[in-house]
Amino acid sequence: PEAPASLAVPQAGQPGLTLLRRVGVVDPSSLDDYRSHGGYAALRRAFALGPAGVIREVTDAGLVGRGGAAFPTGVKWQATASQPDHPHYLVCNADESEPGTFKDRVLMEGDPYSLIEAMTIAGYAVGAHKGFLYLRGEYPRALRLLDNAIEQARARGLLGDDVLGQGYAFDIEIRRGAGAYICGEETALFNSIEGYRGEPRSKPPFPVEKGLFGKPTAENNVETLVNVLPILTMGAQAYAAIGTEKSTGPKLFCVSGSVARPGIYELPFGATLGELLDLAGKPDNLRAVLLGGAAGGFVRADEMDIPLTFEGTRAAGTTLGSGVVLALDDTVPLPQVLLRIAEFFRDESCGQCVPCRVGTVRQEEALHRIAERTGEAAAGDIALLREVGRAMRDASICGLGQTAWNAVESAIDRLGAYE
Ligand code: NAI
Ligand code: SF4
Repeated sequence: PEAPASLAVPQAGQPGLTLLRRVGVVDPSSLDDYRSHGGYAALRRAFALGPAGVIREVTDAGLVGRGGAAFPTGVKWQATASQPDHPHYLVCNADESEPGTFKDRVLMEGDPYSLIEAMTIAGYAVGAHKGFLYLRGEYPRALRLLDNAIEQARARGLLGDDVLGQGYAFDIEIRRGAGAYICGEETALFNSIEGYRGEPRSKPPFPVEKGLFGKPTAENNVETLVNVLPILTMGAQAYAAIGTEKSTGPKLFCVSGSVARPGIYELPFGATLGELLDLAGKPDNLRAVLLGGAAGGFVRADEMDIPLTFEGTRAAGTTLGSGVVLALDDTVPLPQVLLRIAEFFRDESCGQCVPCRVGTVRQEEALHRIAERTGEAAAGDIALLREVGRAMRDASICGLGQTAWNAVESAIDRLGAYE
């Protein structure tokens, strides 16, 4: 197999893995190797179940979106499949850009055929004959491997006019992003594919009704789609038995920062933050952990009991998001980290709406002033940050503006930054 040089998968080859079971084990450029490791068994089961049966399995499995928002996948697929307007589209969101997120990259580079198979199943379920794979432009290795996988699948009748001889036509086109974080927002992504500026559209209407080219569209994250394979091969019931009642299945966590063994870890939902960090090599002088990325929030080093589930992080007043776990030890200068996050949002705001366009600038200015005073906040700085943060959260069009103040707020309220 091609050396997985760019992949940081400390568990590679360990037994008991579901999503990562082939990563670091199969040759990602070989369709035969993929098939000899169980590839395309799920698509066969999908054809046996029929589209409605596939949606039922995914719904019964309790699968929710792994891009960060945890929307029920079965509901999304059913809503798309039932639209009278045609054609229907499937879009895979592989524009993984949340700072600290690199799980989809590992799946695409280590097991690219699994995504092609999963997209074919999703397309079949929602009644689409065309799938778009919107890939982050900074992932050239994934592009090369996915291009090859699509070509091989076409040559072997696994994509094209008659997939597996079942009379179902489906093909996949890759579109590359050009470095804009906002193009990972689903409607900005549609605009980008259509050739317009990458600016989010107002929702509703949701993409299930009016998505790509104004047509019913199921848009799913890479990890979400790859979960459909074990759901079909092991069955919804066995899959739902993994994890907790409300967060079912396995989850990929992106662990980085002040740990001994950074990388992608697969654990069932429900493991605690402390258990995950112990696997990755938690430092003795841990100060805080950023959960969910720049759009997420900080928790303290004494909050290691937080269960890594959607409901558990919500109850703890934080978020799991896309699975970012970024550890900061007490040598990391927090004001600089917050300033970096603020710069990121100011830079990536598409500028379409005022609260975000102006708010991200004001937020960065305030954090600059504080950082220049080596972390001393002047009277009024924190009040201004709160006021601007509230306006962004309440009045921005899309998730970027709505979450641009999350990390800073949690650092102030939870970590006592600037006290
Ligand atoms: P959202 O909650 O607005 O929507 C989630 C999904 O559910 C979307 O596909 C939406 O179309 C669908 N949906 C929601 N309500 C619906 C309804 N009533 N009917 C049909 N479909 C419905 O969240 P959004 O803005 O799509 O994503 C925000 C999340 O993205 C955040 O949690 C953030 O952590 C994450 N994110 C992840 C990134 C990554 O690189 N993985 C980058 C940036 C943000
Ligand atoms: Fe653009 Fe920010 Fe408004 Fe989203 S919130 S539409 S990124 S300006």
